[in-house]
Amino acid sequence: MSEIEKPDLTPEQEQILAQVVRRTNILVYATGFIVVVALLNIMAPQTMERLFQADTSSANADSLMVAMESTISDTLVVDGIHMATGLIVDDGFEQVKASCTACHSSKLITQNKADRDGWKKMIRWMQETQNLWDLGPNEDIILDYLAKNYAPVATGRRMNLTNIEWYTLED
Ligand code: HEC
Repeated sequence: MSEIEKPDLTPEQEQILAQVVRRTNILVYATGFIVVVALLNIMAPQTMERLFQADTSSANADSLMVAMESTISDTLVVDGIHMATGLIVDDGFEQVKASCTACHSSKLITQNKADRDGWKKMIRWMQETQNLWDLGPNEDIILDYLAKNYAPVATGRRMNLTNIEWYTLED
Protein backbone atom coordinates (compact mmCIF):
# COMPACT_ATOMS: atom_id res chain seq x y z
CA MET A 1 0.00 0.00 0.00
CA SER A 2 1.39 3.27 -0.97
CA GLU A 3 0.98 6.19 1.28
CA ILE A 4 -1.19 8.98 0.15
CA GLU A 5 1.11 11.51 -1.25
CA LYS A 6 0.81 14.85 0.34
CA PRO A 7 0.34 17.32 -2.48
CA ASP A 8 2.31 20.45 -2.51
CA LEU A 9 0.15 23.16 -1.14
CA THR A 10 0.53 26.86 -1.24
CA PRO A 11 0.57 28.58 2.16
CA GLU A 12 -2.92 29.82 1.43
CA GLN A 13 -4.18 26.30 0.75
CA GLU A 14 -2.43 25.05 3.93
CA GLN A 15 -4.32 27.67 5.93
CA ILE A 16 -7.67 26.68 4.43
CA LEU A 17 -6.95 23.02 5.11
CA ALA A 18 -6.07 23.76 8.73
CA GLN A 19 -9.30 25.68 9.11
CA VAL A 20 -11.34 22.82 7.67
CA VAL A 21 -9.68 20.39 10.08
CA ARG A 22 -10.41 22.68 13.06
CA ARG A 23 -14.06 23.08 12.09
CA THR A 24 -14.45 19.35 11.54
CA ASN A 25 -13.01 18.71 15.01
CA ILE A 26 -15.46 21.15 16.59
CA LEU A 27 -18.30 19.44 14.75
CA VAL A 28 -17.15 16.01 15.96
CA TYR A 29 -16.88 17.17 19.60
CA ALA A 30 -20.26 18.90 19.45
CA THR A 31 -21.89 15.81 17.99
CA GLY A 32 -20.21 13.69 20.65
CA PHE A 33 -21.52 15.97 23.39
CA ILE A 34 -25.05 15.87 22.02
CA VAL A 35 -24.92 12.08 21.81
CA VAL A 36 -23.69 11.83 25.42
CA VAL A 37 -26.45 14.17 26.67
CA ALA A 38 -29.05 12.24 24.71
CA LEU A 39 -27.80 8.93 26.13
CA LEU A 40 -27.80 10.32 29.69
CA ASN A 41 -31.32 11.59 29.15
CA ILE A 42 -32.40 8.11 28.24
CA MET A 43 -30.40 6.28 30.90
CA ALA A 44 -30.56 8.71 33.83
CA PRO A 45 -33.50 11.03 33.18
CA GLN A 46 -33.95 12.10 36.81
CA THR A 47 -30.35 13.18 37.19
CA MET A 48 -30.56 15.19 33.99
CA GLU A 49 -33.76 16.84 35.09
CA ARG A 50 -32.11 17.91 38.31
CA LEU A 51 -29.04 19.21 36.48
CA PHE A 52 -30.97 21.30 34.03
CA GLN A 53 -33.78 22.63 36.15
CA ALA A 54 -31.85 25.11 38.24
CA ASP A 55 -35.01 26.97 39.28
CA THR A 56 -36.74 23.92 40.63
CA SER A 57 -33.70 22.70 42.50
CA SER A 58 -33.16 26.08 44.19
CA ALA A 59 -36.85 26.09 45.12
CA ASN A 60 -36.26 22.66 46.62
CA ALA A 61 -33.30 24.05 48.53
CA ASP A 62 -35.48 26.90 49.81
CA SER A 63 -38.20 24.61 51.04
CA LEU A 64 -35.55 22.38 52.58
CA MET A 65 -34.17 25.41 54.46
CA VAL A 66 -37.66 26.36 55.63
CA ALA A 67 -38.25 22.81 56.81
CA MET A 68 -34.89 22.76 58.61
CA GLU A 69 -35.53 26.11 60.24
CA SER A 70 -38.94 25.12 61.49
CA THR A 71 -37.55 21.84 62.78
CA ILE A 72 -34.77 23.66 64.61
CA SER A 73 -37.00 26.37 66.04
CA ASP A 74 -39.60 23.77 66.99
CA THR A 75 -37.02 22.08 69.21
CA LEU A 76 -35.40 25.29 70.43
CA VAL A 77 -35.95 26.00 74.12
CA VAL A 78 -34.31 29.02 75.75
CA ASP A 79 -34.63 29.63 79.48
CA GLY A 80 -37.51 27.16 79.66
CA ILE A 81 -39.44 28.96 76.90
CA HIS A 82 -40.28 27.11 73.70
CA MET A 83 -39.12 29.60 71.07
CA ALA A 84 -41.61 28.79 68.33
CA THR A 85 -44.69 29.24 70.55
CA GLY A 86 -43.44 31.25 73.54
CA LEU A 87 -45.00 28.63 75.82
CA ILE A 88 -43.30 27.59 79.05
CA VAL A 89 -41.92 24.05 78.78
CA ASP A 90 -43.34 22.04 81.65
CA ASP A 91 -45.50 18.95 82.18
CA GLY A 92 -48.39 19.19 79.73
CA PHE A 93 -46.57 21.46 77.31
CA GLU A 94 -46.83 18.94 74.47
CA GLN A 95 -50.58 18.53 74.99
CA VAL A 96 -51.11 22.29 75.10
CA LYS A 97 -49.00 22.80 71.99
CA ALA A 98 -50.94 20.11 70.16
CA SER A 99 -54.46 21.14 71.24
CA CYS A 100 -54.24 24.86 71.80
CA THR A 101 -52.29 26.27 68.88
CA ALA A 102 -54.36 24.71 66.12
CA CYS A 103 -56.80 27.64 65.73
CA HIS A 104 -54.99 30.66 67.07
CA SER A 105 -51.64 31.99 68.15
CA SER A 106 -50.18 30.71 71.40
CA LYS A 107 -49.97 34.39 72.37
CA LEU A 108 -53.63 34.19 73.40
CA ILE A 109 -52.47 31.74 76.05
CA THR A 110 -49.21 33.39 77.10
CA GLN A 111 -50.91 36.78 77.43
CA ASN A 112 -53.69 35.42 79.61
CA LYS A 113 -53.69 34.58 83.27
CA ALA A 114 -56.29 32.67 85.21
CA ASP A 115 -56.71 30.10 87.90
CA ARG A 116 -57.75 26.56 87.02
CA ASP A 117 -61.42 27.46 87.12
CA GLY A 118 -60.86 30.48 84.88
CA TRP A 119 -59.00 28.37 82.32
CA LYS A 120 -61.74 25.76 82.45
CA LYS A 121 -64.33 28.45 81.71
CA MET A 122 -62.32 29.64 78.70
CA ILE A 123 -62.10 26.09 77.38
CA ARG A 124 -65.86 25.59 77.87
CA TRP A 125 -66.52 28.89 76.11
CA MET A 126 -64.38 27.79 73.14
CA GLN A 127 -66.15 24.43 73.11
CA GLU A 128 -69.57 26.05 73.13
CA THR A 129 -68.90 28.82 70.65
CA GLN A 130 -65.70 28.10 68.71
CA ASN A 131 -65.98 24.40 67.87
CA LEU A 132 -63.20 23.38 70.23
CA TRP A 133 -63.39 19.62 70.49
CA ASP A 134 -63.68 17.50 73.64
CA LEU A 135 -60.15 17.34 75.04
CA GLY A 136 -60.79 14.00 76.75
CA PRO A 137 -58.15 12.88 79.24
CA ASN A 138 -55.88 15.69 78.05
CA GLU A 139 -58.15 18.30 79.62
CA ASP A 140 -56.87 17.69 83.14
CA ILE A 141 -53.25 17.70 81.96
CA ILE A 142 -53.85 20.96 80.06
CA LEU A 143 -55.66 22.59 82.98
CA ASP A 144 -52.86 21.60 85.39
CA TYR A 145 -50.32 23.12 83.05
CA LEU A 146 -52.26 26.35 82.51
CA ALA A 147 -53.17 26.83 86.17
CA LYS A 148 -49.56 26.31 87.20
CA ASN A 149 -47.78 28.32 84.52
CA TYR A 150 -50.31 31.00 83.65
CA ALA A 151 -51.80 31.74 87.01
CA PRO A 152 -52.87 35.20 88.17
CA VAL A 153 -49.79 36.86 89.62
CA ALA A 154 -50.39 37.71 93.25
CA THR A 155 -47.47 40.13 93.42
CA GLY A 156 -48.76 42.13 90.49
CA ARG A 157 -50.89 44.25 92.77
CA ARG A 158 -49.40 46.64 95.28
CA MET A 159 -49.77 46.01 98.99
CA ASN A 160 -52.75 47.64 100.68
CA LEU A 161 -51.90 51.02 102.09
CA THR A 162 -51.85 51.28 105.89
CA ASN A 163 -51.75 54.16 108.37
CA ILE A 164 -53.41 56.61 106.06
CA GLU A 165 -54.87 59.75 107.44
CA TRP A 166 -58.09 60.06 105.46
CA TYR A 167 -59.62 63.47 105.07
CA THR A 168 -63.07 64.47 103.93
CA LEU A 169 -63.51 66.65 100.90
CA GLU A 170 -65.40 69.89 101.64
CA ASP A 171 -68.70 70.08 99.84
C1 HEC B 1 -61.21 24.99 67.51
C2 HEC B 1 -60.39 26.14 67.55
C3 HEC B 1 -59.72 26.47 68.86
C4 HEC B 1 -58.90 25.67 69.60
C5 HEC B 1 -58.39 24.29 69.26
C6 HEC B 1 -58.53 26.42 70.76
N1 HEC B 1 -59.09 27.66 70.71
FE1 HEC B 1 -58.76 29.16 71.99
N2 HEC B 1 -59.97 30.36 70.92
C7 HEC B 1 -60.55 30.04 69.73
C8 HEC B 1 -61.19 31.21 69.18
C9 HEC B 1 -61.93 31.27 67.85
C10 HEC B 1 -60.93 32.26 70.07
C11 HEC B 1 -61.32 33.72 69.93
C12 HEC B 1 -60.16 34.35 69.20
C13 HEC B 1 -60.25 35.81 69.14
O1 HEC B 1 -60.96 36.42 69.92
O2 HEC B 1 -59.52 36.36 68.29
C14 HEC B 1 -60.16 31.70 71.15
C15 HEC B 1 -59.71 32.43 72.22
C16 HEC B 1 -58.87 31.95 73.18
C17 HEC B 1 -58.37 32.72 74.30
C18 HEC B 1 -58.68 34.18 74.59
C19 HEC B 1 -59.91 34.20 75.43
C20 HEC B 1 -60.25 35.58 75.86
O3 HEC B 1 -61.05 35.67 76.77
O4 HEC B 1 -59.71 36.54 75.30
C21 HEC B 1 -57.59 31.91 75.05
C22 HEC B 1 -56.86 32.26 76.33
C23 HEC B 1 -57.61 30.63 74.42
N3 HEC B 1 -58.37 30.69 73.27
C24 HEC B 1 -56.94 29.52 74.90
C25 HEC B 1 -57.00 28.28 74.31
C26 HEC B 1 -56.47 27.08 74.93
C27 HEC B 1 -55.79 27.02 76.28
C28 HEC B 1 -56.71 26.08 74.05
C29 HEC B 1 -56.35 24.62 74.24
C30 HEC B 1 -57.14 23.91 75.20
C31 HEC B 1 -57.38 26.64 72.90
N4 HEC B 1 -57.56 27.97 73.10
C32 HEC B 1 -57.75 25.93 71.77
C33 HEC B 1 -60.56 28.81 69.13
C34 HEC B 1 -59.83 27.73 69.56
